[in-house]
Amino acid sequence: MKIAVLPGDGIGTEIVAEAIKVLKVLDLPFELEEAKVGGAAYEADGHPLPDATLKLAQAADAVLFGAVGDWKYDKLERSLRPEQAILGLRKHLGLFANFRPAICYPELTHASSLKPELVAGLDILIIRELTGDIYFGQPRGRRVAVDGHFPGAEEAFDTMRYSRPEIERIAHVAFQAARKRSKRVTSVDKANVLETFQFWKDVVTEVHAQYPDVELDHMYVDNAAMQLVKAPKKFDVVVTGNMFGDILSDEAAMLTGSIGMLPSASLNSANKGLYEPSHGSAPDIAGKGVANPLATILSAAMMLKFSLQQADAADRIESAVSAVLAAGLRTPDIWSEGTQKVGTREMGDAVVAAIVGSTASTTTK
Ligand code: IPM
Ligand code: MN
Repeated sequence: MKIAVLPGDGIGTEIVAEAIKVLKVLDLPFELEEAKVGGAAYEADGHPLPDATLKLAQAADAVLFGAVGDWKYDKLERSLRPEQAILGLRKHLGLFANFRPAICYPELTHASSLKPELVAGLDILIIRELTGDIYFGQPRGRRVAVDGHFPGAEEAFDTMRYSRPEIERIAHVAFQAARKRSKRVTSVDKANVLETFQFWKDVVTEVHAQYPDVELDHMYVDNAAMQLVKAPKKFDVVVTGNMFGDILSDEAAMLTGSIGMLPSASLNSANKGLYEPSHGSAPDIAGKGVANPLATILSAAMMLKFSLQQADAADRIESAVSAVLAAGLRTPDIWSEGTQKVGTREMGDAVVAAIVGSTASTTTK
Protein backbone atom coordinates (compact mmCIF):
# COMPACT_ATOMS: atom_id res chain seq x y z
CA MET A 1 0.00 0.00 0.00
CA LYS A 2 1.51 3.22 -1.13
CA ILE A 3 0.43 6.46 0.50
CA ALA A 4 1.44 9.83 -0.94
CA VAL A 5 1.90 12.29 1.91
CA LEU A 6 1.44 15.96 1.01
CA PRO A 7 1.67 18.14 4.14
CA GLY A 8 1.52 21.51 2.35
CA ASP A 9 1.60 24.83 4.19
CA GLY A 10 0.90 26.44 7.54
CA ILE A 11 -0.23 23.96 10.17
CA GLY A 12 -0.30 21.26 7.42
CA THR A 13 3.17 19.98 8.28
CA GLU A 14 2.46 19.82 12.03
CA ILE A 15 -0.82 17.97 11.83
CA VAL A 16 0.27 15.54 9.11
CA ALA A 17 3.29 14.62 11.24
CA GLU A 18 0.90 13.49 13.99
CA ALA A 19 -1.24 11.47 11.58
CA ILE A 20 1.89 9.71 10.33
CA LYS A 21 2.90 8.85 13.88
CA VAL A 22 -0.51 7.25 14.32
CA LEU A 23 -0.31 5.34 11.02
CA LYS A 24 3.15 4.01 11.88
CA VAL A 25 2.13 2.58 15.23
CA LEU A 26 -0.52 0.43 13.49
CA ASP A 27 2.28 -1.67 12.05
CA LEU A 28 0.67 -2.22 8.64
CA PRO A 29 2.60 -2.68 5.38
CA PHE A 30 2.51 0.96 4.25
CA GLU A 31 4.96 2.76 2.12
CA LEU A 32 4.80 6.49 2.82
CA GLU A 33 6.28 8.91 0.35
CA GLU A 34 6.25 12.63 0.97
CA ALA A 35 6.20 15.51 -1.52
CA LYS A 36 5.79 19.26 -1.46
CA VAL A 37 2.52 20.91 -2.40
CA GLY A 38 0.98 24.40 -2.28
CA GLY A 39 3.07 27.38 -1.21
CA ALA A 40 5.85 25.09 -0.03
CA ALA A 41 6.12 23.63 -3.54
CA TYR A 42 5.92 27.08 -5.12
CA GLU A 43 8.88 28.20 -2.98
CA ALA A 44 10.91 25.11 -3.89
CA ASP A 45 9.91 24.51 -7.51
CA GLY A 46 8.02 27.59 -8.70
CA HIS A 47 4.68 25.75 -8.96
CA PRO A 48 2.06 24.77 -6.33
CA LEU A 49 1.53 21.35 -7.92
CA PRO A 50 4.84 20.22 -9.43
CA ASP A 51 4.77 17.34 -11.90
CA ALA A 52 6.61 15.06 -9.49
CA THR A 53 3.99 15.66 -6.79
CA LEU A 54 1.11 14.98 -9.18
CA LYS A 55 2.81 11.80 -10.46
CA LEU A 56 3.37 10.58 -6.90
CA ALA A 57 -0.30 11.18 -6.09
CA GLN A 58 -1.41 9.39 -9.27
CA ALA A 59 0.78 6.38 -8.57
CA ALA A 60 -0.25 6.04 -4.91
CA ASP A 61 -3.20 4.02 -3.54
CA ALA A 62 -4.24 7.01 -1.46
CA VAL A 63 -3.19 10.58 -0.73
CA LEU A 64 -2.94 12.06 2.75
CA PHE A 65 -3.12 15.83 2.43
CA GLY A 66 -2.53 18.55 5.03
CA ALA A 67 -3.56 22.04 3.96
CA VAL A 68 -2.42 24.74 1.56
CA GLY A 69 -2.46 28.50 1.46
CA ASP A 70 -1.06 31.61 3.06
CA TRP A 71 -2.00 35.27 2.75
CA LYS A 72 1.48 36.01 1.44
CA TYR A 73 0.58 34.29 -1.85
CA ASP A 74 -2.60 36.34 -2.41
CA LYS A 75 -0.87 38.63 -4.90
CA LEU A 76 0.44 35.81 -7.12
CA GLU A 77 -1.29 35.17 -10.42
CA ARG A 78 -4.10 32.66 -9.92
CA SER A 79 -2.40 29.69 -11.59
CA LEU A 80 0.49 29.89 -9.09
CA ARG A 81 -1.54 30.25 -5.89
CA PRO A 82 -1.41 27.38 -3.37
CA GLU A 83 -5.16 26.65 -3.78
CA GLN A 84 -4.46 25.56 -7.36
CA ALA A 85 -2.67 22.52 -5.96
CA ILE A 86 -5.76 21.05 -4.34
CA LEU A 87 -7.98 22.06 -7.27
CA GLY A 88 -5.48 20.45 -9.67
CA LEU A 89 -5.32 17.24 -7.64
CA ARG A 90 -9.12 17.03 -7.56
CA LYS A 91 -9.28 17.53 -11.31
CA HIS A 92 -6.40 15.27 -12.36
CA LEU A 93 -7.37 12.43 -10.03
CA GLY A 94 -11.07 12.80 -10.89
CA LEU A 95 -12.03 13.20 -7.21
CA PHE A 96 -15.66 14.11 -7.78
CA ALA A 97 -17.20 12.85 -4.52
CA ASN A 98 -16.33 14.76 -1.38
CA PHE A 99 -17.49 13.33 1.94
CA ARG A 100 -17.60 15.86 4.77
CA PRO A 101 -19.08 14.43 7.91
CA ALA A 102 -20.14 16.82 10.65
CA ILE A 103 -20.28 14.83 13.86
CA CYS A 104 -20.68 16.35 17.29
CA TYR A 105 -18.69 14.32 19.78
CA PRO A 106 -20.57 14.01 23.08
CA GLU A 107 -17.58 15.47 24.95
CA LEU A 108 -17.63 18.58 22.77
CA THR A 109 -21.32 19.46 22.83
CA HIS A 110 -20.51 22.58 24.83
CA ALA A 111 -17.85 23.77 22.40
CA SER A 112 -20.52 24.46 19.77
CA SER A 113 -21.75 27.99 19.24
CA LEU A 114 -25.31 26.59 19.24
CA LYS A 115 -27.24 25.47 22.29
CA PRO A 116 -26.11 22.00 23.41
CA GLU A 117 -29.56 20.45 22.87
CA LEU A 118 -29.51 21.52 19.20
CA VAL A 119 -26.23 19.72 18.47
CA ALA A 120 -26.05 16.82 20.94
CA GLY A 121 -25.81 13.65 18.87
CA LEU A 122 -25.50 15.57 15.59
CA ASP A 123 -24.30 13.36 12.73
CA ILE A 124 -24.63 14.85 9.24
CA LEU A 125 -22.86 13.71 6.10
CA ILE A 126 -22.39 16.41 3.50
CA ILE A 127 -21.62 15.02 0.07
CA ARG A 128 -20.21 17.77 -2.08
CA GLU A 129 -19.69 17.40 -5.82
CA LEU A 130 -16.06 18.40 -6.28
CA THR A 131 -14.98 18.61 -9.91
CA GLY A 132 -17.75 20.60 -11.62
CA ASP A 133 -19.93 23.69 -11.08
CA ILE A 134 -18.69 27.26 -11.17
CA TYR A 135 -15.31 26.11 -9.78
CA PHE A 136 -14.30 24.48 -13.06
CA GLY A 137 -16.82 25.77 -15.64
CA GLN A 138 -15.44 27.46 -18.73
CA PRO A 139 -15.37 30.14 -20.01
CA ARG A 140 -14.19 32.44 -17.27
CA GLY A 141 -12.18 35.60 -17.29
CA ARG A 142 -12.24 39.36 -17.58
CA ARG A 143 -13.38 41.48 -20.49
CA VAL A 144 -15.14 44.65 -21.48
CA ALA A 145 -18.89 44.23 -21.15
CA VAL A 146 -20.92 44.45 -24.33
CA ASP A 147 -24.26 44.33 -22.52
CA GLY A 148 -25.61 44.22 -18.96
CA HIS A 149 -26.08 47.22 -16.71
CA PHE A 150 -22.82 48.90 -17.70
CA PRO A 151 -21.87 48.20 -21.33
CA GLY A 152 -18.26 49.21 -21.97
CA ALA A 153 -17.25 48.67 -18.35
CA GLU A 154 -14.64 46.15 -17.22
CA GLU A 155 -16.28 42.93 -15.97
CA ALA A 156 -15.41 39.43 -14.75
CA PHE A 157 -17.34 36.22 -15.32
CA ASP A 158 -17.38 32.53 -14.37
CA THR A 159 -19.55 29.74 -15.72
CA MET A 160 -21.82 27.58 -13.62
CA ARG A 161 -22.51 24.28 -15.40
CA TYR A 162 -23.28 20.63 -14.70
CA SER A 163 -23.68 17.77 -17.15
CA ARG A 164 -26.14 14.92 -16.66
CA PRO A 165 -23.44 12.26 -15.96
CA GLU A 166 -21.79 14.52 -13.37
CA ILE A 167 -25.06 14.89 -11.48
CA GLU A 168 -26.03 11.24 -11.88
CA ARG A 169 -22.82 9.88 -10.40
CA ILE A 170 -22.86 12.13 -7.33
CA ALA A 171 -26.56 11.33 -6.80
CA HIS A 172 -25.75 7.60 -6.83
CA VAL A 173 -22.99 8.19 -4.28
CA ALA A 174 -25.42 10.05 -2.03
CA PHE A 175 -28.23 7.47 -2.22
CA GLN A 176 -25.79 4.63 -1.61
CA ALA A 177 -24.28 6.41 1.37
CA ALA A 178 -27.79 7.04 2.73
CA ARG A 179 -28.56 3.32 2.54
CA LYS A 180 -25.84 2.74 5.11
CA ARG A 181 -27.30 5.44 7.38
CA SER A 182 -30.84 6.57 8.09
CA LYS A 183 -31.90 6.45 4.43
CA ARG A 184 -32.63 10.13 4.01
CA VAL A 185 -31.12 12.49 1.44
CA THR A 186 -31.60 16.23 1.16
CA SER A 187 -30.54 17.61 -2.20
CA VAL A 188 -29.64 21.29 -1.96
CA ASP A 189 -30.12 23.52 -5.00
CA LYS A 190 -31.14 26.96 -6.18
CA ALA A 191 -33.65 25.72 -8.73
CA ASN A 192 -35.87 28.75 -8.21
CA VAL A 193 -33.26 30.94 -9.89
CA LEU A 194 -30.57 28.92 -11.66
CA GLU A 195 -31.09 26.67 -14.69
CA THR A 196 -28.05 24.60 -13.67
CA PHE A 197 -29.74 23.74 -10.40
CA GLN A 198 -33.18 23.12 -11.89
CA PHE A 199 -31.37 20.52 -14.01
CA TRP A 200 -29.58 19.25 -10.88
CA LYS A 201 -32.92 18.82 -9.13
CA ASP A 202 -34.49 17.05 -12.15
CA VAL A 203 -31.59 14.60 -12.54
CA VAL A 204 -31.36 13.83 -8.80
CA THR A 205 -35.11 13.12 -8.84
CA GLU A 206 -34.67 10.75 -11.80
CA VAL A 207 -31.83 8.85 -10.15
CA HIS A 208 -33.90 8.60 -6.99
CA ALA A 209 -36.34 6.30 -8.85
CA GLN A 210 -33.67 3.60 -8.49
CA TYR A 211 -33.62 4.02 -4.69
CA PRO A 212 -37.26 3.67 -3.55
CA ASP A 213 -36.05 2.71 -0.07
CA VAL A 214 -34.37 6.10 0.40
CA GLU A 215 -36.33 9.25 1.19
CA LEU A 216 -35.42 12.33 -0.88
CA ASP A 217 -36.27 15.93 -0.29
CA HIS A 218 -35.12 19.10 -2.01
CA MET A 219 -34.18 22.34 -0.33
CA TYR A 220 -33.05 25.71 -1.61
CA VAL A 221 -29.56 26.59 -0.48
CA ASP A 222 -30.58 29.72 1.44
CA ASN A 223 -33.14 27.74 3.40
CA ALA A 224 -30.57 24.95 3.98
CA ALA A 225 -28.15 27.49 5.43
CA MET A 226 -30.90 28.64 7.79
CA GLN A 227 -32.10 25.15 8.75
CA LEU A 228 -28.51 24.14 9.55
CA VAL A 229 -28.40 26.61 12.41
CA LYS A 230 -32.07 26.27 13.34
CA ALA A 231 -32.53 22.51 13.51
CA PRO A 232 -29.38 20.79 12.21
CA LYS A 233 -30.41 17.35 13.44
CA LYS A 234 -33.16 17.25 10.80
CA PHE A 235 -30.48 16.52 8.20
CA ASP A 236 -28.84 13.19 7.51
CA VAL A 237 -27.15 12.99 4.08
CA VAL A 238 -26.95 16.31 2.24
CA VAL A 239 -25.92 16.26 -1.42
CA THR A 240 -25.08 19.42 -3.28
CA GLY A 241 -22.90 21.09 -5.88
CA ASN A 242 -19.35 22.26 -5.54
CA MET A 243 -19.87 25.84 -4.42
CA PHE A 244 -22.92 25.35 -2.18
CA GLY A 245 -21.11 22.36 -0.66
CA ASP A 246 -18.06 24.47 0.07
CA ILE A 247 -20.12 26.99 2.00
CA LEU A 248 -22.53 24.63 3.77
CA SER A 249 -19.80 22.25 4.88
CA ASP A 250 -17.95 25.03 6.72
CA GLU A 251 -21.21 26.03 8.36
CA ALA A 252 -22.01 22.45 9.37
CA ALA A 253 -18.46 21.93 10.61
CA MET A 254 -18.71 24.79 13.06
CA LEU A 255 -21.88 23.34 14.60
CA THR A 256 -19.77 20.54 15.97
CA GLY A 257 -17.65 22.85 18.10
CA SER A 258 -14.53 22.98 16.00
CA ILE A 259 -13.65 22.54 12.39
CA GLY A 260 -10.42 21.13 13.82
CA MET A 261 -12.22 17.84 14.47
CA LEU A 262 -13.55 17.09 11.00
CA PRO A 263 -11.96 14.80 8.44
CA SER A 264 -12.87 14.56 4.78
CA ALA A 265 -12.49 12.17 1.90
CA SER A 266 -12.49 12.98 -1.81
CA LEU A 267 -13.02 9.91 -3.97
CA ASN A 268 -12.95 9.06 -7.65
CA SER A 269 -14.86 6.32 -9.44
CA ALA A 270 -12.14 3.77 -8.59
CA ASN A 271 -12.49 4.61 -4.88
CA LYS A 272 -9.05 6.07 -4.88
CA GLY A 273 -9.04 9.01 -2.60
CA LEU A 274 -7.47 12.07 -1.17
CA TYR A 275 -7.94 12.53 2.57
CA GLU A 276 -7.60 15.86 4.29
CA PRO A 277 -8.90 17.75 7.29
CA SER A 278 -11.88 19.98 6.49
CA HIS A 279 -10.02 23.00 7.83
CA GLY A 280 -7.37 25.07 6.11
CA SER A 281 -3.72 25.95 6.72
CA ALA A 282 -4.42 28.43 9.56
CA PRO A 283 -1.30 30.58 9.01
CA ASP A 284 -2.16 32.56 12.16
CA ILE A 285 -1.31 29.61 14.41
CA ALA A 286 1.24 27.83 12.21
CA GLY A 287 4.47 26.81 13.91
CA LYS A 288 3.06 27.36 17.40
CA GLY A 289 2.37 23.71 18.11
CA VAL A 290 -1.24 24.37 19.09
CA ALA A 291 -3.17 23.13 16.04
CA ASN A 292 -5.65 20.32 16.55
CA PRO A 293 -4.33 17.23 14.71
CA LEU A 294 -7.50 15.17 15.23
CA ALA A 295 -9.15 16.07 11.90
CA THR A 296 -6.06 14.83 10.08
CA ILE A 297 -5.75 11.73 12.25
CA LEU A 298 -9.44 10.97 11.56
CA SER A 299 -8.81 11.60 7.85
CA ALA A 300 -6.12 8.91 8.00
CA ALA A 301 -8.76 6.60 9.51
CA MET A 302 -11.13 7.39 6.63
CA MET A 303 -8.29 6.59 4.24
CA LEU A 304 -7.77 3.19 5.85
CA LYS A 305 -11.46 2.42 5.56
CA PHE A 306 -12.31 3.78 2.10
CA SER A 307 -9.19 3.24 0.03
CA LEU A 308 -7.02 0.69 1.81
CA GLN A 309 -9.58 -1.87 3.04
CA GLN A 310 -8.32 -1.66 6.63
CA ALA A 311 -11.58 -1.04 8.47
CA ASP A 312 -10.29 -2.60 11.71
CA ALA A 313 -7.31 -0.29 11.83
CA ALA A 314 -9.63 2.66 11.12
CA ASP A 315 -11.83 1.63 14.05
CA ARG A 316 -8.79 1.49 16.31
CA ILE A 317 -7.90 5.09 15.42
CA GLU A 318 -11.47 6.30 15.94
CA SER A 319 -11.75 4.58 19.31
CA ALA A 320 -8.41 6.03 20.37
CA VAL A 321 -9.59 9.54 19.47
CA SER A 322 -12.77 9.04 21.51
CA ALA A 323 -10.71 7.73 24.42
CA VAL A 324 -8.42 10.74 24.37
CA LEU A 325 -11.39 13.13 24.33
CA ALA A 326 -13.06 11.18 27.13
CA ALA A 327 -9.84 11.50 29.13
CA GLY A 328 -10.24 15.28 28.89
CA LEU A 329 -7.38 16.21 26.57
CA ARG A 330 -8.08 19.28 24.45
CA THR A 331 -6.19 21.46 22.01
CA PRO A 332 -7.04 25.17 22.46
CA ASP A 333 -9.77 25.15 19.76
CA ILE A 334 -11.87 22.69 21.76
CA TRP A 335 -10.71 23.56 25.25
CA SER A 336 -13.25 24.38 27.95
CA GLU A 337 -13.13 24.85 31.72
CA GLY A 338 -12.21 21.63 33.54
CA THR A 339 -10.35 19.99 30.66
CA GLN A 340 -6.63 19.69 30.08
CA LYS A 341 -5.09 21.94 27.45
CA VAL A 342 -2.50 20.18 25.27
CA GLY A 343 -0.53 20.99 22.13
CA THR A 344 -0.46 19.35 18.72
CA ARG A 345 2.28 16.87 19.57
CA GLU A 346 0.87 15.88 22.94
CA MET A 347 -2.49 15.21 21.30
CA GLY A 348 -0.86 12.98 18.68
CA ASP A 349 1.16 11.17 21.36
CA ALA A 350 -2.00 10.58 23.39
CA VAL A 351 -3.76 8.99 20.41
CA VAL A 352 -0.72 6.77 19.80
CA ALA A 353 -0.67 5.80 23.49
CA ALA A 354 -4.39 4.97 23.40
CA ILE A 355 -3.84 2.70 20.39
CA VAL A 356 -0.83 0.98 21.95
CA GLY A 357 -2.67 0.69 25.27
CA SER A 358 -5.72 -0.92 23.76
CA THR A 359 -3.53 -3.34 21.76
CA ALA A 360 -1.71 -4.30 24.96
CA SER A 361 -4.99 -4.94 26.75
CA THR A 362 -6.33 -7.11 23.89
CA THR A 363 -3.20 -9.24 23.80
CA THR A 364 -3.16 -9.83 27.54
CA LYS A 365 -6.84 -10.82 27.62
C1 IPM B 1 -12.13 23.51 0.63
C2 IPM B 1 -11.36 24.78 0.37
C3 IPM B 1 -11.03 24.81 -1.11
C4 IPM B 1 -12.33 24.90 -1.88
C5 IPM B 1 -10.07 25.93 -1.55
C6 IPM B 1 -8.80 25.92 -0.73
C7 IPM B 1 -9.74 25.85 -3.02
O1 IPM B 1 -12.06 25.89 0.79
O2 IPM B 1 -11.59 22.41 0.42
O3 IPM B 1 -13.29 23.60 1.06
O4 IPM B 1 -12.90 26.00 -2.05
O5 IPM B 1 -12.80 23.86 -2.30
MN1 MN C 1 -13.95 25.43 1.82
